[in-house]
Amino acid sequence: MSLISNIRRHKLHILSFGLLVIVFFTQVNYINREQHCEKYAIRMHTPTRFNEIENIREALSHSATSEEVFQRLQNASSNISKFHDRSDDRTYEPDGYKAAALARRLCLEKRLNHGTFVPVARMHYIPHRNITFCSMAKTGSTFWGRVFVMATEQDPNKYSQPYDVSLSEVYGGIGKRFTLNTNVTLNHDHFSFMFVRNPYSRILSAYVDKLVPPNPTFWRYFGLKAIEQFREGMHKAPKSTRKEAKHNNDTTLVGHDVTFAEFVRFVTDAELHQESPNPHISSVKKHCRPCSSFFTFIGKLENIAEDGSYIMNKIGISKKAITALETNISNLTKDDAITDSIRGPFGWKKDVLKHMSWDKALQRLWLKLQMRGLIEKDIKLELSDQQIMSMTSNRLIDIAREAHARSDPGKLKQQSKAVQKEAFASVPLKDLTAFRDAFKDDFTLLGYDPSPQEIFNRNENPVEPTVYFNKL
Ligand SMILES: *[C@@H]1O[C@H](CO)[C@@H](O)[C@H](O)[C@H]1NC(C)=O
Ligand SMILES: *[C@@H]1O[C@H](CO)[C@@H](O)[C@H](O)[C@H]1NC(C)=O
Ligand SMILES: *[C@@H]1O[C@H](CO)[C@@H](O)[C@H](O)[C@H]1NC(C)=O
Ligand SMILES: *[C@@H]1O[C@H](CO)[C@@H](O)[C@H](O)[C@H]1NC(C)=O
Ligand SMILES: *[C@@H]1O[C@H](CO)[C@@H](O)[C@H](O)[C@H]1NC(C)=O
Ligand SMILES: *[C@@H]1O[C@H](CO)[C@@H](O)[C@H](O)[C@H]1NC(C)=O
Ligand SMILES: *[C@@H]1O[C@H](CO)[C@@H](O)[C@H](O)[C@H]1NC(C)=O
Repeated sequence: MSLISNIRRHKLHILSFGLLVIVFFTQVNYINREQHCEKYAIRMHTPTRFNEIENIREALSHSATSEEVFQRLQNASSNISKFHDRSDDRTYEPDGYKAAALARRLCLEKRLNHGTFVPVARMHYIPHRNITFCSMAKTGSTFWGRVFVMATEQDPNKYSQPYDVSLSEVYGGIGKRFTLNTNVTLNHDHFSFMFVRNPYSRILSAYVDKLVPPNPTFWRYFGLKAIEQFREGMHKAPKSTRKEAKHNNDTTLVGHDVTFAEFVRFVTDAELHQESPNPHISSVKKHCRPCSSFFTFIGKLENIAEDGSYIMNKIGISKKAITALETNISNLTKDDAITDSIRGPFGWKKDVLKHMSWDKALQRLWLKLQMRGLIEKDIKLELSDQQIMSMTSNRLIDIAREAHARSDPGKLKQQSKAVQKEAFASVPLKDLTAFRDAFKDDFTLLGYDPSPQEIFNRNENPVEPTVYFNKL
């Protein structure tokens, strides 16, 4: 109870957590994670789980009618509800249980079955607590990686709160100790959760985090492909042309100038035509498959203050650590967003320089911080040639922190709204509705409004951006 009242007391203080907890780390390599997790599997006992649908089909034999399977599914779902209703820890009921129950109910009502297993490496697992987590990119997955590292650390004094866990610990070796090396299937006594986010703010966040700052990997991976597919007059460059362009340092084949409108079409197309789209842009339906492995708890980024603290407590993070996080939450999340945004591009500077001047790259980095609502748009980054040459990531972090401190919080909030408005206004209405239709099940299952007034109250024609997106 004290945790909960604590949450309520700090609620206002930590509201900003929702938007800022999402840190971004580029090279999340799911393949590598899978390759390395073998040796950790020995230390984890494999849960005896079943995937509802597969298990039921097996039990009923393959001649079972879909109606019989459906009935069993309904019973499985009601078992989950019953089991967790009588759990001792339900003194406080955060919305995550209701969101998961809604998803299960709609899966059954609409008879959605999104495939069978949640593939390996998408689930984190804490063995001694029977808890699994499906990690959705762009919904705070790095933050939860930190929490899981902390929860599985033997030395209780190593970290005072989750942000003490470094990115390399999350994505390096230690992270493997909670990556499951088997197909996850979920039973009713098992606690499984995921965090989700409004699909509109998620796609905008993917663009702002991966394509606005200097990031040749994602420019090639998303930007170039989107341009080749959807820009008028562009066509897929043959391999030989690509090779030649690379040799001549031709920057036109990079994808850094992909527009948000093109990105929306790209994401829509991937969702409609690919079995497993890249995790940064995939729907929840395709990535975590909530209709084939029922979840116990679906937390929302928009409600991270309550859902997040509840889950941390459940995972076994100490009250002291949760309090330490809550006390400094605003500073910790913003500071993490600033440092992480800046360190990345300095790490791949050489690759960036093949495509644009360092001056231009730093301006894009600054623009990203402004678009994320961390720095006021009128505070410019003005550097002499000499300063650009000698700029270090630590120096730029200091400059950005100082600019953040000078920024008016009220203006920053409006700025984030203006960025969203400009982004979606720049997309032709038909492409926006195509995106909405492709992600229809996510909107429905997760309880988000597919046609929010602030995005759809407009006419057919797109509006050219004039403040943020035109600077790219
Ligand atoms: C589902 O549960 C109900 C009552 O709890 C039971 O009567 C019914 O036989 C069950 N159906 C299946 C397919 O297990
Ligand atoms: C539901 O729970 C009951 C009692 O624990 C069990 O007998 C039954 O097999 C469960 N049904 C499903 C579909 O999991
Ligand atoms: C985890 O699940 C196993 C198998 O279902 C069960 O025996 C064990 O008691 C569970 N542990 C906890 C902490 O719930
Ligand atoms: C997981 O399930 C898939 C599909 O059924 C299968 O191809 C794969 O081999 C399984 N992986 C493991 C580790 O069991
Ligand atoms: C391309 O850039 C690299 C490194 O920036 C340089 O070494 C090379 O000479 C350049 N190639 C051409 C054809 O300009
Ligand atoms: C919050 O951060 C300040 C420094 O930024 C630190 O001195 C203080 O100990 C932190 N509070 C907690 C509860 O960790
Ligand atoms: C966070 O706190 C530290 C230490 O008090 C300070 O140097 C830094 O500027 C703060 N960062 C933000 C984003 O407020």
